[in-house]
Amino acid sequence: MDVKKALLDRKSTRAFVDKEVPIEVINAIIEQAKTAPSGVNSQPWQIAVVTGNSKTKLCDKMEKAFRAGKKGAMDYDYYPTEWVDDYKERRKVCGLLMYSTLEISREDKQKQLDQWALNYQAFGAPVMLLFFIDKVMEKGSYMDYGMFLQSIMLSAIEHGLATCPQAALGEYPEIVREELCYSQDKVLLCGMAIGYEDKSAIVNSYRTPREELDKIVRYFP
Ligand SMILES: Cc1cc2nc3c(=O)[nH]c(=O)nc-3n(C[C@H](O)[C@H](O)[C@H](O)COP(=O)(O)O)c2cc1C
Repeated sequence: MDVKKALLDRKSTRAFVDKEVPIEVINAIIEQAKTAPSGVNSQPWQIAVVTGNSKTKLCDKMEKAFRAGKKGAMDYDYYPTEWVDDYKERRKVCGLLMYSTLEISREDKQKQLDQWALNYQAFGAPVMLLFFIDKVMEKGSYMDYGMFLQSIMLSAIEHGLATCPQAALGEYPEIVREELCYSQDKVLLCGMAIGYEDKSAIVNSYRTPREELDKIVRYFP
C-alpha cells in the first residue's frame, strides 16, 4: 500500500464488526510502528494491548464511572481549558458533523450521552490499545509519541483494520492503572480502538474537513 492511500484512507472509526483481530496482526502493526523516530532514539512508547475479558472488565468500569457522573481527569492537559478562535469553531464543526450524521439533535442530551459513552467501550472494537509514557519524560517525547500513534494507524490500514485514537480512554487513569497494575510513574496518554470497520454504520459515513494550505502555511521565498 502506498503512503498516500494509507493517509487518505485513515479516519476515526466509531463502529466495528464483531470479529477478532489475531494478536499476530496487532504485533505486526506495533513492530512496524516502533520504527517511528524519537529524540535520541528514546522510544518512549509503552503499550497495553487489552482484549477479551480484560477489555470487558476495564471498559465496563470506565463506562460505569462515566455514567455515575464521575468527572474524568486525564493525567495531563490534552485540551486547552478555554477554546478560542479557529479551534473553537473546528471543535464545534467536529461535534456537529458526528451528531448530525447520527441525527442526534442538540436538545437530545440522553442520546448524546449514550453516544459519548461508547468511547469507554472503545466503540465495540475487539482490541483496545492504551498508551503510557514514563512521568519523567518531557514534552518532546509526547511529540515523538504522536508519530508512533500515526504510524500505528497507518499500519493498521495496511492490515485492513480501522482505528479511533481516543483521549476519552485516558479520562479515568486511576481505574486503568489499578485494573492493569501500572504504577503512578506511568502517564496514561490516550487509548485507541482497533478492529474491522463496520461499513454499514452511519457513524462511519462522514469525513472531517481540513483547512486549505493558505490558511496553515506561510511561504518565505
Ligand atoms: C489523540 C487523539 C485523541 C482523540 N480522542 C477522541 C475521543 O476520545 N473520542 C472520539 O470519538 N474521537 C477522538 N479523536 C478523533 C478526532 O475527533 C478526529 O481525529 C478528528 O475529528 C479528525 O477526524 P478523522 O480522524 O476522522 O480524520 C481523537 C483524536 C486524536 C488524535
